[in-house]
Amino acid sequence: MSTKTDTTYDIVVFGATSFVGQILTTYLFESYGVGRDVHWAIAGRSESKLGSLKQSLGKKAGELPVIVADASDESSLKAMCEQTRVVISTVGPYALYGEPLVKVCAETGTDYCDLTGEVQWIRKMVETYEDTAKASGARIVHCCGFDSIPSDMGVWFLQQQAEATFGAPCQDVRMRVKVAKGEFSGGTVASMMNVAKEAAADPKLRKELANPFSICPPEHRSKTRQPSLKGAEYDRDFGVWLAPFVMGAINTRIVHRSNALQNARYGKEFTYDEAMMTGRGMKGRLAAYAITGALGGFFTASAFKPSRWVVEKFVPKPGEGPSPEAQKNGFYDLRFVGKTADGKTIKTKVTGDRDPGYGSTGKMLGEAGMSLAFDVDGDKQGGFWTPSSLLDGKLYERLTSKAGLTFEVLETS
Ligand SMILES: NC(=O)c1ccc[n+]([C@@H]2O[C@H](COP(=O)([O-])OP(=O)(O)OC[C@H]3O[C@@H](n4cnc5c(N)ncnc54)[C@H](OP(=O)(O)O)[C@@H]3O)[C@@H](O)[C@H]2O)c1
Repeated sequence: MSTKTDTTYDIVVFGATSFVGQILTTYLFESYGVGRDVHWAIAGRSESKLGSLKQSLGKKAGELPVIVADASDESSLKAMCEQTRVVISTVGPYALYGEPLVKVCAETGTDYCDLTGEVQWIRKMVETYEDTAKASGARIVHCCGFDSIPSDMGVWFLQQQAEATFGAPCQDVRMRVKVAKGEFSGGTVASMMNVAKEAAADPKLRKELANPFSICPPEHRSKTRQPSLKGAEYDRDFGVWLAPFVMGAINTRIVHRSNALQNARYGKEFTYDEAMMTGRGMKGRLAAYAITGALGGFFTASAFKPSRWVVEKFVPKPGEGPSPEAQKNGFYDLRFVGKTADGKTIKTKVTGDRDPGYGSTGKMLGEAGMSLAFDVDGDKQGGFWTPSSLLDGKLYERLTSKAGLTFEVLETS
């Protein structure tokens, strides 16, 4: 439990009117009701939009409390944080709007989780506010959506199974996306374009983004060379062609930070990478080259002003995203292969029952917030954590019993 006592709410959802915030709010409302065991409120900058959201939930949401706060107004954020033990934030791009809230949470001892995948921003937050969060007791957990819970908890699960079966963790782990059926929302595209724009203007940032240990504490920056798929490649473990996976850039950093925060539980020489399976034979090979080219084109075009407006014309705008039907019909299937230092192998699988970026992300973020509010021991100190290093088995229980995720061992040899 949080070190804070006597707050009105357990959880406040800040950014409840965002595309993903509405999914999260609906999930919490349908799962936990209002004013029952969980005391929670919705918050955002527009009282009228918050009112419309409540109306869309129906009569029973009449009692759901509303807090008006603006991401750029520290005093309104402080007033919000004083009322709650945990804030879940979906106000992004976080690199543009997120810092004042992290600062206020760190100062007021308020536990916090979010959906950022912006590695350069996470690093800045850790460097600037870790001491403050340690002093106040605030536990800050970034990346509680599709990036990076399935990867982070997927590796956590694989290593638990490896330890139980082989008596040792796997030194090398690879994650391959077999299926990820879903679409991007305007908010996510805006965040990705902002990273491309910032990186194009700043060589130091480009170097930082290329460093797999950029958000690990300095003493945990391993010298072990990390695999990094830059183009189409054939994968012998799964017998398929691979293309780069866009979320790998953040997921790999979170997995390494989890290893570091657990005192190198996966080993000091641990390696990890992610890629997308594109299929077998010539079809798979062509698809791998096509995806590699399209990704490169998107980031190059987003980086520079003359071409950025063309991209903006064709991608969803902030506030837009997949339809409820597309969320319901979406799903994902991730495969992991781990190898121990003495050559033993384990293959595992993680699935989610909604589209990765929204339907499933809303549920994962909600359960990460619930876990932060109700599962975390008081002896877990303040600071910047990762989902698996702070919430571990308790989050696993919630993900599998409530949020539609499955974790499975496929084979060991
Ligand atoms: N990690 C993942 O897997 C994952 C998945 C999905 C989304 N995301 C990230 O989550 C974030 C939200 O995505 P989205 O698609 O839901 O975005 P969105 O619909 O564009 O929502 C952005 C939200 O920010 C709010 N906002 C902007 N400026 C504000 C201010 N000054 N004060 C208070 N609120 C402010 C907006 O408020 P109004 O509603 O009043 O306009 C809106 O609610 C993005 O950063 C996205 O990259 C991550």
